[in-house]
Amino acid sequence: MQKFVMQGGKKLEGDIPVQGAKNSALPILSAALLCEGESILENCPKLSDVYTACRILTSAGCQCNMQGHTVSIRADSVSHSEIPETLMQEMRSSIIFMGAMLGRLGTCTMGYPGGCELGSRPIDLHLQAFRRMGVKIHEHHGILSCTTPNGLHGAKIHLQFPSVGATENILLASVMAKGETILTNAAREPEIIDLANYLNRCGAKIRGAGCSTIYVQGVQKLKGCTYRIMPDRIVTATWLSAVAMTGGNVRLIGTDTTSLEGILDVFEEMNCRFSRSENTLCFSAGKPLHAVRYLKTMPYPSFPTDAQPVVMSALCVADGTSLIEETIFENRFRHVEGLCRMGADIQITGRAAVVHGVHRLHGAQVSATDLRGGAALLVAGLSAEGETILTEISHIDRGYDSPEVLLRNVGAGIVRI
Ligand code: UD1
Repeated sequence: MQKFVMQGGKKLEGDIPVQGAKNSALPILSAALLCEGESILENCPKLSDVYTACRILTSAGCQCNMQGHTVSIRADSVSHSEIPETLMQEMRSSIIFMGAMLGRLGTCTMGYPGGCELGSRPIDLHLQAFRRMGVKIHEHHGILSCTTPNGLHGAKIHLQFPSVGATENILLASVMAKGETILTNAAREPEIIDLANYLNRCGAKIRGAGCSTIYVQGVQKLKGCTYRIMPDRIVTATWLSAVAMTGGNVRLIGTDTTSLEGILDVFEEMNCRFSRSENTLCFSAGKPLHAVRYLKTMPYPSFPTDAQPVVMSALCVADGTSLIEETIFENRFRHVEGLCRMGADIQITGRAAVVHGVHRLHGAQVSATDLRGGAALLVAGLSAEGETILTEISHIDRGYDSPEVLLRNVGAGIVRI
């Protein structure tokens, strides 16, 4: 079992390269299953979730190879439409292989995806949409068997909620379905645009990705291409929180500042300073750091739920009281216990957290409970006085590529043991 040991309180200063986005890499890896020939995905982060996606591709009959941050996938001989239960359980995102399998083979068998750490995470919207596209779904002892007796066809689909995963699954299933799919109330996250850009580069006909209505005209086949995964905006928000908390000053290299709107507004309210060019963000901590009056997580372009835990860490040491409302997931305050153990003053009522800023946090032994909650404790440990021991870091390895290496390069006291 690995852990991070941190000697906190060191200012972060220097350049931080930003990794490729996990939430973009995973659906694009799944999309590679649809393509004939080879896809070469650059800027792919080295993460346990990416390795799991590669194992799913391999189990379906693809050849998958990762060298450095480049993954090549050959999907010429996809033959197997059953995803092994162990792989389904390893990550929630395994569900987005359903749309790709259906698009490629017209059939798919899988269990429910694992990872319910943020509360109940239903897939009803995914299944409803597939049914509208001609998929017959039979459930037996928790295993979903999907078939398309009359082929997959386009449909008019309205999502009750702009689910990111459901939007991706519908794109994956519709690009080679017969006819047109019109998706309304679609998720507008930048990672949806990245997926659509990759698919279009492979020959798909998708219009409107990034807007609420997306039009997909089904095509006969797709051909693999070389594509660069977009930078990770949640990882960017994590390092901004760490810099804000430690009073530092960094340059984030290779980030996409246009996708950071809802996030940068919050750091501005916290009194942090930044200037940006196309792919570089120069950022200095607010002195002092200010509380934010009201922070509400919402679908893009508002403030993302994935950035809530890490920003909460920074607010723990801001001047004044911040109110945070979590509207996306019901159980996304699990990091609060660890933060309070480090001296934070946070009260939770239902989906709201009231954070009273304290002068500083102190080191403690804490455990990562989920991916972004773990990142929140990592950020807190970098600024806390004394030693923090952070355990259960396999959660963090699902989304952060060698965080201790890049943090040490900007002056943090952190080792992996
Ligand atoms: C994706 C992201 C995750 C992020 C989340 C919200 C990936 C790999 N994961 O997850 O990091 O936190 O978006 O931005 O990109 N819902 C239903 N029924 C469904 C599907 C979703 O009720 O069929 C609800 C969920 O319970 C939740 C909300 O919709 O309350 C948002 O979920 P969704 O956008 O689907 O999140 P994910 O795609 O799972």
